[in-house]
Amino acid sequence: MSKDLATLAWLVEMGADEAIGDQPVDRLAPPPPATPKPPAPPDAPAAPALLPVAAASPGPPLPSAQAAASAEALAAAARSLDELEVALRGFDGCALKATATSTVFADGVPGSRLMLVGEAPGADEDRLGRPFVGVSGQLLDTMLRWIGLERARDFYIANVVYWRPPGNRQPTTAEISICLPFIRRQIELAKPEILVFLGNSAAQALLGTTGGIGRLRGRWLAYRIPGTGGELQAMATFHPAYLLRSPAQKRESWRDLLMIKNKLSDRANELK
Ligand code: URA
Repeated sequence: MSKDLATLAWLVEMGADEAIGDQPVDRLAPPPPATPKPPAPPDAPAAPALLPVAAASPGPPLPSAQAAASAEALAAAARSLDELEVALRGFDGCALKATATSTVFADGVPGSRLMLVGEAPGADEDRLGRPFVGVSGQLLDTMLRWIGLERARDFYIANVVYWRPPGNRQPTTAEISICLPFIRRQIELAKPEILVFLGNSAAQALLGTTGGIGRLRGRWLAYRIPGTGGELQAMATFHPAYLLRSPAQKRESWRDLLMIKNKLSDRANELK
């Protein structure tokens, strides 16, 4: 492999797998100094090379215990979804933020009866700043349309991780736990009647289980809203990206969707 090709392959592996601007931007580089230093007089001893000043750079990510405490405090202080989004955008405790283009908060209609939670943004979501707008999102929208639900009218959608992991790798347990206080608060503030977890990461993180999606899916589970004693009816189902790779499993997803449709209409009838 030529040197250029090897560099390109390395960049893709690191997550830089698409061009999103006319000029390259090094997001990790410290900002340039505000004013250039005047040159030293010729007879002055040479100044030692200075390391970048910590305060001038974005700084290293917070240690995880501090980041988790800060996430808890910020999320708990938010009184509305708008406040939560502002708090999340100002939060620098998740290292993924440094390599992502966007903070991907949510899409759809806040306050809908149905809320779906996926794993983490991919390349399209990172570029557009909205969850599930790539191919797996398109499949999800089509499947939800089968049961009469439209994103612009009937559901609210977010992820357990708000920034794209480089190269679309799976988020780590540490990255998920740092984001957890925000998604938990987001669920609490969005007040859905029914919660749907798309794939293992969301189901395991929010249900606090290690069970795989194959066992969790297809039945009603209880999601406990932390600190309130309240519970929501929850369903775990296959992630649409998995269905793209294993279309035969759409049959099972169809069963899950029918259960969701029936639950929504039963609950609506109960309120009549
Ligand atoms: N996969 C996810 O889990 N979330 C997205 O937003 C997109 C793809």
